[in-house]
This record gives sequence, structure tokens and C-alpha cells, in this order.
Amino acid sequence: MKVGVIGAGYAGLTLACLADKGHEVIFIDIDENKVKKINEGSSPIFEPGLDDIIRRNIGKRIWAYNDYNKLIDCDVIFICVPTPSNDDGSINLYYVRNATENVAKVLKYVNKFVVIAFKSTILPGTTISLIPIIEEISGKKATRDFGICMNPEFLKEGSAVRDFLNPDKIVIGVLDEKSKEIMLELYKWVDDRVPRIITNPNTAEMIKYAQNAALASRISFINEIANICEKFNVDILDVAYAIGLDPRIGPYFLKAGIGFGGSCLPKDLKALINAAESKGVEVIVLKSILERNEKQPYRAIELLKSVIPNLKNKKIALLGLSFKSNTDDVRESSAIKIANKLIEEGAHVKAYDPKAMENAKKILGDKVEYCKSPIECLKDSDACIIATDWEEFKDIDYSKFNIPIIDGRRILDRVKAKIFGNKYKGIGWSEN
Ligand SMILES: NC(=O)c1ccc[n+]([C@@H]2O[C@H](COP(=O)([O-])OP(=O)(O)OC[C@H]3O[C@@H](n4cnc5c(N)ncnc54)[C@H](O)[C@@H]3O)[C@@H](O)[C@H]2O)c1
Repeated sequence: MKVGVIGAGYAGLTLACLADKGHEVIFIDIDENKVKKINEGSSPIFEPGLDDIIRRNIGKRIWAYNDYNKLIDCDVIFICVPTPSNDDGSINLYYVRNATENVAKVLKYVNKFVVIAFKSTILPGTTISLIPIIEEISGKKATRDFGICMNPEFLKEGSAVRDFLNPDKIVIGVLDEKSKEIMLELYKWVDDRVPRIITNPNTAEMIKYAQNAALASRISFINEIANICEKFNVDILDVAYAIGLDPRIGPYFLKAGIGFGGSCLPKDLKALINAAESKGVEVIVLKSILERNEKQPYRAIELLKSVIPNLKNKKIALLGLSFKSNTDDVRESSAIKIANKLIEEGAHVKAYDPKAMENAKKILGDKVEYCKSPIECLKDSDACIIATDWEEFKDIDYSKFNIPIIDGRRILDRVKAKIFGNKYKGIGWSEN
């Protein structure tokens, strides 16, 4: 099949995987640099495995353009553009509308049935609300001349390729049989045992929001339990392990730390809260998930101040800037929030991240010192905060530096951590 992808970002680029499954993938992006990078055979973002997929398919099964007219022969066109928050938390649909209108302009000249499939995370009702716009611009009729589909994406940045290739479900929200058949054909390569959830667009949209809210709730829950544990000399790792053995709870997403970030969970929660309240729904639980998360990064500062009360002119090594390991994405990163707070307190921040330095510079500018290695970062520093769970941070011999270590991600081996005595502090850590 010929697949168009509007928006070659973290979600859209992962559709490059379809090239390895025999489909042709045409990326359309307004960012010339991204288009150029893809055509040179490499990924414009860091995502394990993506570079290789693009390199082996470029010019054969993958192409990139900034011209929507290249979509003319496509069977499916995915819309993967951003859906950021407005200042009041509501969803900003500017990019989705713009991309949809541009697709509709091309649709006017298309002579076959094409499915316009949304992967952008959009609120229930949005996909259907876009139909009149597409019909008016294209002069075509939905379900007769073209199909629409909400096909949410559940990948995790850092393991996006693996997640896309091994989904736990495929959600297809459609209004007609033909669109359903085309979407099922597109995902034919996915193991037969993986459930295909065929539903309407509104339900597909809600599934995505509910899933993100559920994931966020687990993180805020375990973070709050971790904060309580610290006061009772209990280690959260023991508690999380034990409760995770109950099959009703399960072991995943129970890692205490300095909060969730990234482009999805915070903004999707905000959008859901805003949309629910606009319909008169009383929202209590979702708001508290966000509230816990907004405060959680600063727990690292509190722990730091328990050993260094005044941070003025102190050199603080900040290990990690991305919102999680294995990505260069710094959107809503707790590490960036910590950096800004440290600067506000008068500290000198020495930062290091294996992949996210360039993106972090766009936000933090020259307010922090960027180091070439974790060792350079730690050298001559007064304390260290581990803000991202990069694997390489686990193997550092912190004992050489003899400074307080604030483990915001609980990545240090417990035996090693104990050796530091009261120089080691971690979220939900107990020395007992
Ligand atoms: N990042 C994820 O892990 C993830 C996972 C699931 C769903 N999503 C959803 O996917 C959507 C995209 O997220 P992302 O993280 O990939 O965003 P992103 O910012 O990484 O990428 C979006 C891309 O769209 C391009 N773009 C914007 N407007 C355009 C237009 N009119 N025409 C063509 N290109 C345009 C931008 O240049 C950019 O390259 C969001 O709704 C997000 O919630 C993201």
C-alpha cells in the first residue's frame, strides 16, 4: 500500500516501520530540515532503530517532501501533527486543521478511495467534526469517496520502533466497512493474536486519552507513596515490588521518581480535564494526578537542600535533560524544570545528557554549562542530581567525587547507594 504521513515527528516517523513491511511511505513535513535529513537517509530525531529503517528504505520505500501533492496516489494518509495545549489547558487544533485542509485540497484530485487516518491525539468528537471541512474543500463525500479513521498510537518514545512492531492492540475507529478493510489490510503483518479493536472514531479517541490518564495516574500514585515512604524509613522499591505482584495491580509503571514529562501525558491530561469541565463533568482525580506531577520534580531540590540548604553559587551536576532515557525529547522534562529552579536559587548548573543537549540548549540557552561527559559534569561539583534514567548513569563510580548524590530516578544499585551513607538521597529512599 502507499501510505502518506503528515508530520515527521516522534509519532509520524515511527510509521517508517511500515516500509519494512512492504508498504511505501511518503512523509510530508513543513520543516525543510527534517525533510532533508530523511532524504539523506537518517532520522531527524533520536529514536533507537529508526535511523537504520530509514537508511535501508530511503528512495526505495521511503520518501520525504514538503509538498502535499505527492500524496495523490496514497491509499491511507496519516495525520501525525502536534496537538499542544493552549494556555488554559485546552487542546490546540491549529496544526490538525491545517494539515486536514491541505490533505482535502489534494483529495479533490484523487480518483480512488483513500482513508484519512488520525494518529494525532485528539479529543472525542474531533475526527467526526473534521468531515464537513474535508467534504467542503475536496467536493467529495465521506464514506463514499473517502474514509476517515481514528487510529491512535500507543508507542513509547525510546522504544517506539519496538512498540510499533509489537503492539498490544490495534484500535481502528471508523464509520464504514471499506475504511475498516483498508486499515486491517495495512496492519495485516501484526500477529493474529493481537486484538483489533474496531470501533467508532469517538471511542477510539477516548481510548487513547483514558490510557494516557491511567498511565499518568500510576506514576503520580507511586510518587506520592514514595514521598510518604521517605518519612517512615521505608524504601519505595520494596513496596512497589510487593504490590506489583498482585495481578490486579501488576508490576509496570510503578517506578517512583521526579515525575512524568514528554509531549503526551501532561498535555493530554490537561486537554481531557478541560474538555470534561466544558461539558460540566466534575473532575477531581485527573486534576490531582497533574498536581502531584507538577510538584514532583522539586522533590529533588528539597532532597538536595536537606544536605546543602543554601544553593547560592553551588555547582550542581545535572545528569540527564531528556524527559526519559533513550530519547532526545525534552518537552515537559522534569530535568529542565529542575535546572530552572536551581538557576532561580542561584546555583551554577553543569548539565550533561547523551542525546538531548541540542534540544535542551533551545530552552535553557546559556543559563547552564553544558559538559562533554558525566565525569566532566561531576568534577568539581558540590552535588549531583540524577534526573534521567539513562543506562550509562548507572555505571558511574560516584564514590570518586565524594559529593551528595540525589537520585531522582532511583537508578543506583541499592548496595552501592548504602555505601554513600547520608550523602545519598533518592525519591522514596530509605537507608534501612
Ligand atoms: N510523541 C509520542 O510519543 C506520541 C505518541 C502517540 C501519539 N502522539 C501524538 O501524535 C501527535 C504528534 O506528536 P509528535 O510527538 O510526533 O509531535 P512532533 O512535534 O514531534 O512532530 C510533529 C511534526 O509535524 C510537523 N507539522 C506541523 N504542522 C504540519 C503541517 N501542517 N503539515 C506537515 N507537517 C506539519 C512538524 O514540523 C513536526 O515535524 C500529537 O498529537 C501527539 O499527542 C505522540
